[in-house]
Formats: sequence, C-alpha cells, structure tokens
Amino acid sequence: MPKTIIEPFKIKVIEPIRMTNRQEREAHLEEAGNNLFALHSADVLIDLLTDSGTSAMSAAQWAGLTDGDESYAGSRSFYRFENAVRDLTALKHIIPTHQGRAAEKILFSIVGGKGRVIPNNTHFDTTRANIEFSGAEAIDLPCKEGDDLVSDYPFKGNMDVDALRQTLERYGRERVPLVMMTVTNNSHGGQAVSLANMRAVRELCDEFRVPLFIDACRFAENSYLVKLREPGQRERPVIDIARDFFRLANGCTFSAKKDAFANIGGFIAVDDDELAQQARNLLILTEGFPTYGGLAGRDLEAIAIGLEEILHEDYLAYRIRTIEYLAERLIAAEVPLLRPHGGHAVYLDARRFLPHIPAEQLPGQALACELYLEAGIRSCEIGTVMFGHTDPETGREVLSKMDLVRLAFPRRVYTQSHSDYVLEAIVDVYRRRDAVRGFRFSYQAPMLRHFTARFERL
Ligand code: F0G
Repeated sequence: MPKTIIEPFKIKVIEPIRMTNRQEREAHLEEAGNNLFALHSADVLIDLLTDSGTSAMSAAQWAGLTDGDESYAGSRSFYRFENAVRDLTALKHIIPTHQGRAAEKILFSIVGGKGRVIPNNTHFDTTRANIEFSGAEAIDLPCKEGDDLVSDYPFKGNMDVDALRQTLERYGRERVPLVMMTVTNNSHGGQAVSLANMRAVRELCDEFRVPLFIDACRFAENSYLVKLREPGQRERPVIDIARDFFRLANGCTFSAKKDAFANIGGFIAVDDDELAQQARNLLILTEGFPTYGGLAGRDLEAIAIGLEEILHEDYLAYRIRTIEYLAERLIAAEVPLLRPHGGHAVYLDARRFLPHIPAEQLPGQALACELYLEAGIRSCEIGTVMFGHTDPETGREVLSKMDLVRLAFPRRVYTQSHSDYVLEAIVDVYRRRDAVRGFRFSYQAPMLRHFTARFERL
C-alpha cells in the first residue's frame, strides 16, 4: 500500500477563492492600517489567521443541522450533545455555552475574584482576560524546556511542576481555587502536554486538595501527539488517551470551534454539584436556559457529531501530518521556526527570520504583513503586538518573550497544494528577507490592542 497519508475525505461542497495580485493586496493592506485583522476575508487567498470556528463540517454534521431540535427546554439535541461530552469526559454536569470564553467567564466569575490566583501551563489570552477581569491573578508556569525554540523536546507544552509546587505552597488552597492545564498549549507554540505531566500535576493538586481543570480546546490533537511521542502510548486507541486526560480532571472548559469541527459553541463540564448549580444560574443570565446555553439546537447536534469524528485515527494521522509536512519542508529550507511542530499550526520565529529588525520594530508584524503582500496569506502575529505594551512614560515597547507568526490551519479546509503554495511563499520571503522593514504603532487601544491597532511602516 502507498505510504502517502491522504486527506481521509472527499470534497463535496467548495468555496471559491478569489485570486488577487500584489498591487491589489498593497492597497488592501494600506486601507487596513497594516493590521491583518482589518482585512476583508474576500481579499485573503489562504486564511491561516485561526483554526477556530473555521473548520469544514462533514456531511453528517450538515445533516445534523436539519435534525436539530429547537425546543427551548429539554431539546433532544441537548441530550445528544450531553451524551457525547459525558462519554468522552465522564464529568457529571455538562453545561453548553456559545463559545470557549463564555465558559471561562462563567467559571471565573464564580471561582475568581480579588486575592485569588489561577496557575496554568500557559493561559490563553481570553482565559487570562476573564481571570483578571474578575480581580484574580493569572499565572503562567510553562516548563523550562519550552524556552528553547529549536530543541525537539516533545512536550514543550508541559507545566513546570516544581514551579506549581512553589505556587501552591505560597498561596495554598485558600487562594488557589483551581489549577488549569491548557492542551495543547496554544499561547506557548501549540505544544503538546504529556500524560505523565498531567499525572504529576494531578498528584500535586491532590496533595494540596485543589481541583484541576483542563482547557480542552485541542484535546484530540494533544492526545494524538501523545500517541506519537510518549513512550508506551503508540499502540493505544487515541480515544483512551483522551479519556485518560479527562479522568485526571475535575472539570473543563471547551471551545467547540476547535476540536469539534463546529463553527460556534463550547461548554463547561464539572463534577462539583455546587459549582454546577452556580454556573447554571449565571448561564441563564447571559447565555440562556441550561439545555441550550447560547446555542441553537442544530449547533448542539453539530458539536455532538464533531466530537465523535475528531477522534477518528485516520483523521488525526492526516491532521498532524499536514502540520508536520509544512514544518519539515521549512526546516529543510532553513527557515527559523518553533520546534517541534504542534497540532494546529506552524509558528515562524520572526526574530530569527528578520534579524535586522529590532524587536521594538515588531518583526512578527512585519513578517505577517509580508506574507500577505507576497501571496495573500493571512497569519497571526503572536508576540509584542499581542502581548507587549507601550510604556506610557518612555513611549518604548515593552517586549514579549518571543515574536512568533502563527500559521493556524482550519480543519479539513486546505489541501496539500495549498500547503505547497504557503511553503513557497515563506521561502521566497525568507530569501529576500533583508528588504523587509519594521513597523511602529500609529494607533492602539488600551486593551487587547492587536485587534484594532494601526501600523506605519518604518
Ligand atoms: N482557550 C484556548 C487555548 C484557545 O485557543 C481559545 C481560542 C479559547 C480558549 C477561547 O475560545 O474563541 O471559543 O472563545 N482560540 C482562538 C485562536 C481564538 O485563534 O487560537 P473561544
């Protein structure tokens, strides 16, 4: 049998891409203030801004939409959704929300608040924002191996267990209402978390009697990376690995826009009866009745079906291979990137890609803009624009630890020739990198500035 890992699906419905030329793209980027978030998607050729809510649904999911039960209370679709989530997580209370951050908002409105501290391997920006909005403090405790961008250490997404012990010793269970584990670790390069690390964190949580929650957005991709990379896991069905992760947790938040192939949706799942009761009360206030939680019945159907499809081994083998395929070829062309590859994206290392642009001049932004101009590819700066800030006293940029450019692949949307096109574009830009110039902010909002900022080329 041939060895090529193929897309394990056929294409039934297509969405045309409008081709553009460089001159048109220059005008679009200018109008967008050099911010890729401000582009019209119709002016983008290959959209790798995010893998969230952008995946292609299957024929079964589209059929599920027709089958959705839109009853206000007790919808059949809710019970199907609840069964799918419970089968996977074994958690007692399953509470739908309209997306991941809605689950976070509810959870941290209850357990957050002034004086509280929430450790995580690395908080995603909405998780951090919801924790901070409640008055609590969000702390990132990524493992030290993650600081080295070029090593092939397989689990750079892990939590630093010693640092977690120190945090728990310092604040105790009075101030730490829960520990969180983000799988895969999106803000830290989409890196995988090992089962061994999850178990070590669980043991610490038991010792200090603190609950452990998972931010489970990309649980299936993480489980498959564990299967490929963790000793003793290779022969196990990926669903068993996924279940092992959830069995180690007391609850989770989830965005169904990632590893459930849905365009919208999420949930919060917990064992604790009291916490569930409080969450449902808040849910009714902002999301809706507990059997739909801000979603249509048809969305609940699509999520239930997606949660089953995402764990197909053929799909996951293809999915992880698509990321590896691009990463492998970029490494062969000596393009600087974060290694090893994660599950949903390739992260270019903009500081090494554009060494002549000082970090204050936003090399990640420069690279992301250049890829758009070169080939109509939309990526996402994950660096100083997103996580840094301008010092109000000196007017200087306070830098983030790394300047990465994320190329996040929507699930089941692009084919191998799209990847080859992206590869060629990156390599071409790399060859003439010396001509790329930096940027400075011409406008920025006080919070989450990356979404609405405008930039001037230097
Ligand atoms: N947690 C993680 C790890 C995420 O990556 C995201 C979203 C969320 C929570 C929030 O979920 O968008 O449904 O409210 N990540 C997207 C991204 C936006 O592009 O990485 P949401």
